[in-house]
Amino acid sequence: MHDDTLKKEEHSEKNRRMADSSFKNNDLQEAARLYELSIKNNSNNVKALNNLAALSEELGDQNKAEYLYKRACNLPGPSAADKLKLHQNLASAQEKNGKVNAALWTYQSATKIEGFTKSTIAFNYLDLLQSIHLTSFEAGIFASLAVLFNIVGIDNDALARVYFSQIALKPAKATHTKKDYPALVLDIIESDQIALSLLSNSLISNHIIEKTIITIRQKFIASILSNNYNKTHQAFLTALKKQCKLNDFIYLIDKKELSSVEKLKLKNLKESSAIKTDARLILESYSEKKIINSLKSPYPLDDQSPTQQKKEITPTIFLKSKTIIQDFYESNPYPTWTSKPKHSESTLNQLFKTLNLKQAPPNNNILVAGCGTGRHAIQIALTYPHAKIIGLDVSQASLQYAKNKRDEYEILNLEFIHGDLNDILSLNMEFSLIECVGVLHHLQDPLKGGQAILSALEDGGIAKIGLYSAYARTPIADLTNLASENGIPFTPSNLEKIRNLAIQNYKYKRTNEIVNSQDFFSRNGCMDLFFNPLEKAFTIRDIHSFVRTLNCEFAGFENGGQKESPALRKFNDRSNMDSLFYAWELFENLNQNFFSEMYLFWLKPIRK
Ligand SMILES: C[S@@+](CC[C@H](N)C(=O)[O-])C[C@H]1O[C@@H](n2cnc3c(N)ncnc32)[C@H](O)[C@@H]1O
Repeated sequence: MHDDTLKKEEHSEKNRRMADSSFKNNDLQEAARLYELSIKNNSNNVKALNNLAALSEELGDQNKAEYLYKRACNLPGPSAADKLKLHQNLASAQEKNGKVNAALWTYQSATKIEGFTKSTIAFNYLDLLQSIHLTSFEAGIFASLAVLFNIVGIDNDALARVYFSQIALKPAKATHTKKDYPALVLDIIESDQIALSLLSNSLISNHIIEKTIITIRQKFIASILSNNYNKTHQAFLTALKKQCKLNDFIYLIDKKELSSVEKLKLKNLKESSAIKTDARLILESYSEKKIINSLKSPYPLDDQSPTQQKKEITPTIFLKSKTIIQDFYESNPYPTWTSKPKHSESTLNQLFKTLNLKQAPPNNNILVAGCGTGRHAIQIALTYPHAKIIGLDVSQASLQYAKNKRDEYEILNLEFIHGDLNDILSLNMEFSLIECVGVLHHLQDPLKGGQAILSALEDGGIAKIGLYSAYARTPIADLTNLASENGIPFTPSNLEKIRNLAIQNYKYKRTNEIVNSQDFFSRNGCMDLFFNPLEKAFTIRDIHSFVRTLNCEFAGFENGGQKESPALRKFNDRSNMDSLFYAWELFENLNQNFFSEMYLFWLKPIRK
């Protein structure tokens, strides 16, 4: 290398190091000047480009940040680990700038870099894929999903959602008619081990695939009955049977189908023939209660009851009498979930620092109040392995589900207690962190429940609360009216019909939001969505008064990422709360989908 070039590179590195230290000391203008100088001396200085990009983000110049990250990504030289970081930085900047396609492309390129499967970038890629709605089949994306499938700890429910929405779009419009669409989809699933595995083990939350699967099953029965069934579909049918168990037999069956099932049961098929095996698998994909019990089956059927699950007694504290809500969640443990929650190990101190608090109080106890089937509690236990986690719930059935999952993942720092959060003080424990998401709005008195959990926080402790937003609940009210117009009483016994009505009216008002929700694809999820006997919904104004009445510091809503949203707040921010809530209210009016499920926010009691 030329002496001159060498000198320039050295000079560039020197300036870059000085810039780093100015950046660290918060002298941002000086840091920017030095980075520019560094890049002028060596336009290939990856670190200088990356760090100036980070600085530009801090200064609010997102476009410049994206431009610089992109330049850094395209340079040869960095190690695979650094390349992955650069790709992550670029994709995040592109997302922030609203360039979703560009971000997808960046993530896809990252899948080819060594170490991708072991880095958190994979999880962020899936998060993005999950949050958008792809309207066409993308071969590149589909191929990258196979890479994601092999990653330990990937959220298979989320992956299944994206994977099957791509399968639904795969048969190109030009090459299929309505008639051959189910056959094409069947071919795709049968020839794809990932699709078969996801169909067996994860909830498939795509209504087009659901409709197609139902058609395929009906066609199979019809062809067996007319002796035209000439190819076995054992792998597909085994997976379908598992899917139906997982969603608790939620697919709609009309009278015609019921009668065909009845005929299938009575049909004399040659013992030990492949067709007989397929017929048995088909029958097992129907609910024992609804179909099988009403008929005398010549087939030995699998045990469909959940008795194989381990039953344990959970310590019960302070439960007075059964409430309507307890009854409801005993019958409908919520949510139905299948794959180990995504997590990256951390400490409570780190969390407190992000929220602008010096450090976590010493106890390191975490309470998940109203933990349901334990998904969040397990995620928290995995995230904070040094903390002791308690999951509390009034529903024994939910706690049993949670315990089975905890034991499956061999988690040791998580205990479950059967009890009412209103009486949390009788537990005689104090917590550094309490999470209570999706629970208080099901209480007779949410404020009282809020007071109860906050009083169990040790000094300096914080709580994360999740409450239904009124806006998010309106599509359910619209669906209720639609059902009544169609003569369908809005009751649990009509659940399958109501679901079908929603699918058929996908474009009616905001019905698509219901049909696109994960809860729509399992019975317990639907029960919670449609038939919860006690629920209240909140507005931004209600939350403001909730926070004031509880005499708490408010550290902002979790969902702060969007460009024009009011800045994400942290604890110790002394800005005016009235104007903050007013800004959020205005913002929500313009972006009504923003809190599409819940308001999630952080509180810290003000104690004298
Ligand atoms: C919608 S689920 C939310 C579950 C979980 N937090 C989640 O977000 O996945 C509501 C849960 O709150 C529980 N619950 C309702 N009232 C409760 C109370 N007073 N004390 C404890 N748990 C309660 C229910 O049994 C149910 O499991």
